[in-house]
Parts: sequence; structure tokens; C-alpha cells
Amino acid sequence: MSLLSIQGLGSGYGGDVICHDISLVVEPREIVCVLGRNGVGKTTLLRTILGKVALQAGSIEFDGRDIGHLASDKIAHRGIGYVPQGRQLFGKLSVRDNLRLGSVARAGRLEEPDEAILDYFPVLRERLGQTAETLSGGEQQMVAIARVLQAKPKLLLCDEPSEGLQPSIIDDVGRVLRAVAKDLGAAILLVEQNIRLAKSTASRGYVIEGGTVVSAGSIDEITSEEMLHQHVAFSRMRATRDENGPR
Ligand SMILES: Nc1ncnc2c1ncn2[C@@H]1O[C@H](COP(=O)(O)OP(=O)(O)OP(=O)(O)O)[C@@H](O)[C@H]1O
Ligand SMILES: [Mg+2]
Repeated sequence: MSLLSIQGLGSGYGGDVICHDISLVVEPREIVCVLGRNGVGKTTLLRTILGKVALQAGSIEFDGRDIGHLASDKIAHRGIGYVPQGRQLFGKLSVRDNLRLGSVARAGRLEEPDEAILDYFPVLRERLGQTAETLSGGEQQMVAIARVLQAKPKLLLCDEPSEGLQPSIIDDVGRVLRAVAKDLGAAILLVEQNIRLAKSTASRGYVIEGGTVVSAGSIDEITSEEMLHQHVAFSRMRATRDENGPR
């Protein structure tokens, strides 16, 4: 049985349909990527799974149960965690307090940061007393990931964690995501435009264009030159190639 199974999902804002007829699955412990240009509906898809945007068509099953019309706090409680685009930390709060907020989805109250999870984020352990706004972009992304792990989710929805980060820091994010899936046993649905991060973490994925899936397959299939040229921002593809040196 798949961990997440979406059939014919439709959603949008007011009368505007953004996502339509999206079907996808995520198996336990799997990292699956969703690729697509700016504005194609990637964040809207994640927010629909989370119950923050109303499901207008189709179905969403998680862990064998229908979650399509549940309130977002109930969905979080079932075990879906969200690492939002742009991190969305509480900048004036300490790293420790940001992490404590992550436990609320599971425990219903603030708990101290989990030591076993902090082991994966040694830099954060040194920064627990600092306010989140004093951290670098990469460190803030690590807080956003560590925060959601406090609730021990079975599935993480990660929205463009590479955004605004340098290549070496993006590699650190990739290492953490792989460890989350392998050691902590959480599956990850990773929305990305950074092909290098997608390839280093996901085994397969989906390409979205105009609010629907236009391609699905192995990571190599969906990141072929032709596919990237057609459906994923060319400038980013070139930037990724430059990082890898001349071909
Ligand atoms: N709260 C909202 N109300 C109305 N329209 C919205 C809202 N959020 C997003 N949209 C519109 O929905 C469409 C898809 O946006 P969405 O944020 O899902 O795209 P995206 O693929 O995540 O883009 P990006 O790569 O830039 O993050 C866009 O046309 C956007 O303007
Ligand atoms: Mg987005």
C-alpha cells in the first residue's frame, strides 16, 4: 500500500482552478520529486495535500485513509510535515523555540528539541540560543527541516529547500534529506527546480506544467535534456550545469 496516493486532484483559489487531474503516489521511505517552472502550481499542490487549500476534485489517501477533506491540523497530526517555501521561521524567536514549535503537531504541546534529531544538525546545536534571524540562509533551512522532524512525520512535504542557497549548502540539504529518509524512515515529496538536488536525492518523480502532471518516471527519464528544455526553467538547468563544470 502506498503511503500517499493522490487520484485526479483538483484545487485552486476562488473560481480559479490551478491544479487539475493530478495523480501521484509516494511509497514509504521514498524520496519523490516534483519538478516544474515558476507558477505551475507546485506549492498549491502541497498546500492542497496539507488541507490548506480546499480539494475540489479527486481524492487524497494517506496511510490507508482518506484525508481529502480533513482540517490541516488533523492532517499534520496523522503524520504529514511541511517544510514551507521560504522557510517561514519565527525570526525573533530562538532556534530552540522554533524547534519546540515543531512538536505541537504531534504532541499538542511544546517539547524540548529531540536530541536524536539534533544529531543530524550539529551546527544548530551550537546555535540553539540564537534568534533564527541571525542564522545564514542554509542554517535557517536546516531549522525548517529540523523543526518539522520534531513531530516525527511519516511524510515530509519540502517546498524548494534549495531556494536562495549556494551549491555547497544545497549539497548539505541533500545529505540531510537522504538521512531523513534512510535513518528516520520518513518519505519525502520534494518540490524542486534545482535539478542537481533532485537527482542526488530522488529516485523518481513527476513534472508539472500548467497545473497538471505532464511526465512521470525515473529521475533520469524526467531530467533528460529534452524534458528539462521543455518543462523546467532553462536558466536554472544551465546554472546547474555550470556548477558541475564544463561538459
Ligand atoms: N493565495 C493565492 N490566491 C490566488 N492565487 C494564488 C495564490 N497562491 C498562488 N496563486 C496562483 O496560483 C498559481 C500557482 O502558484 P504556486 O505558488 O502554486 O506555483 P509554484 O509552482 O509553487 O511557483 P514557484 O515555483 O514560483 O514557487 C500562480 O498563478 C499563482 O499566482
Ligand atoms: Mg512554490
